[in-house]
This record gives sequence, structure tokens and C-alpha cells, in this order.
Amino acid sequence: MRPAVAPGNRRTMAAGTRIAGLPGMIWNPAQYLKFSQPRLQPAIDLLARISGCEPARIYDLGCGAGDATRLLARRWPRASIVGVDNSPAMLAQAALQQPGVRWMQCHLGDWHADQPADLIYSNAALHWLPDHRQLLPALVRSLAPEGVLALQMPRNFGAPSHTLIAETVRSGPWRSKLEDLLRPTPVAVPEFYYALLAPLAGGIEIWETEYLHVLSGDDPVKEWTKGSWLAQFIERLDVAEAGRFEQDYARRLRSAYPHRADGTTLFPFRRLFIVLSKAEPSRCT
Ligand SMILES: C[S@@+](CC[C@H](N)C(=O)[O-])C[C@H]1O[C@@H](n2cnc3c(N)ncnc32)[C@H](O)[C@@H]1O
Repeated sequence: MRPAVAPGNRRTMAAGTRIAGLPGMIWNPAQYLKFSQPRLQPAIDLLARISGCEPARIYDLGCGAGDATRLLARRWPRASIVGVDNSPAMLAQAALQQPGVRWMQCHLGDWHADQPADLIYSNAALHWLPDHRQLLPALVRSLAPEGVLALQMPRNFGAPSHTLIAETVRSGPWRSKLEDLLRPTPVAVPEFYYALLAPLAGGIEIWETEYLHVLSGDDPVKEWTKGSWLAQFIERLDVAEAGRFEQDYARRLRSAYPHRADGTTLFPFRRLFIVLSKAEPSRCT
């Protein structure tokens, strides 16, 4: 049976706040979900920091395969929940797992809350969109007067898992095909987000956590990034060249993330969290 996924709302978020996005990438849910448990931990940690509110209308932006959306539905079973994503494959996977959520295929740059949101939640998605200076205040404007914006984004773009992608791109015969995909780090320092958002907030908490993921298997860091950031590079190449690119990248990763005697590979991964309440927290019942 085909899962129900509503076409997205193509209107802009609010007058004058359209956010340009990056070209869509093809997501592979099976590859992404190879590490579903460690990928879900930050979603759980973000959810745990939302307190004092009983949201009726929730939007999960960049909901992917719906793992975090399922946690939202479990915590607030009476809420109306919309999962928004632009990947048909991820949404199809999501719709298999979580009845009762409305899934919407939409580019987040074009997304518009059809009604003011009590909670906008986003785990590991907004770093795919550029121009946070415009994007995040627009999201705050989509909140109801006592609404909450809760988001998490990776902030590990200076780690070898990512810098070695750029190094591999620049040192191989694929350079001219891939170099335009390299771009500056999409996530700024925490102080940037505080300066941007605190004036719009009744309350705001910003923090970072560096997870130490304990991975197993061959070249697990390559397998991890292949489910997310690396995929856009691989999909530009034909199968044979993609294989050579992956092997080159994996070889570089092995000295940065050595395979340990106990069979594991340690993968430190830093993430930035923001929980913003539009009203002063004491007014939030
Ligand atoms: C790393 S996954 C996170 C999925 C989910 N939030 C989770 O925690 O498992 C990022 C998701 O963001 C979506 N995404 C990225 N850019 C997007 C855009 N411009 N519009 C809509 N969705 C986007 C991708 O399709 C993908 O499903």
C-alpha cells in the first residue's frame, strides 16, 4: 500500500521571508538507519529539554524516516503532528511506521505553518538549509504566542569525518565534478544563535554536546557519512568512480578514526541544541 504523503504547502513562510535552499539530495533511508540508535539519541535529548508545554500543533521539520516524530507522538498523543520533509524515500519510510501523523512533502525553504505552531521541532535537518540569519527568525514568527522552537544541528564540520571529504574531493580525478558541492560550514557558533534569537525569545537555552559514538564494522565512519553528508558526492559519480572515491575517503578516515583492538571505532560528534520559548517560561502552562 502506498503511504499517504500530502503535497507540501508551497507558499512562503511569511511575507518577505522565503528562504532559498540547497538542491535536493537523494536520501537512502536504509543507509541512514544503519546507525538509527546513535542518530536518535540527540533527538531524545532535545525532547527531554522541552518542558512546561502541552503543544496541540507540532511540526517536525526535516522529519526524515520519522524516528523522532514517533517520539513526539508518544509524548503528546493528542497533538496534531505534521512531519515535513522533501525526500519521498524518507517520507515513505516514515509513513510505514507512524500512523496518525500527517506527512508533508515540502522543501523547508518553502514551508509555511498553516496555523501558528505550538512546537516546531527539528532534529538534524536545518543545517541543510543556508542563511540561518533569515531562516530561524522566520521559524520563530511561525510560532503561536506561547510556542516553542526546539532544534538540533550537527556542529562537527571541522572534524576529520567532514574535512576529509573535502580533501578527497580536491585530490582525485573527480574534483571538477564535485568541488561545487563543497561549501562553508553551515552551522555557526552558539553565540551567533544567541545574538540572533534571544531578542525574539521569552526564554532561550543553547548548549552543545559531544557524543562519543562507539561504532562497529568496517569503515563505520564512512558508512555513517554515506547515510548523510557524503551521499550528495557519491550520487554525482558513476558506480565505478563512486567506489574509488569511497575507498580513497575510507583510507584517509582510517588513521583519523582507528579501528581499536576491541573491534570498535570511536566517533566523536559535536551537536548544537537550541530550545526557544516565545513567551517567558513562567507563562507557559
Ligand atoms: C539527517 S536527516 C534527519 C531526519 C530526522 N529528523 C531524524 O532525526 O532522524 C535530515 C532530513 O532533512 C531533510 N531535508 C534536508 N534538506 C531539506 C529541505 N531543504 N527541505 C526539506 N527537507 C530537507 C532530508 O530529506 C532528511 O530526511
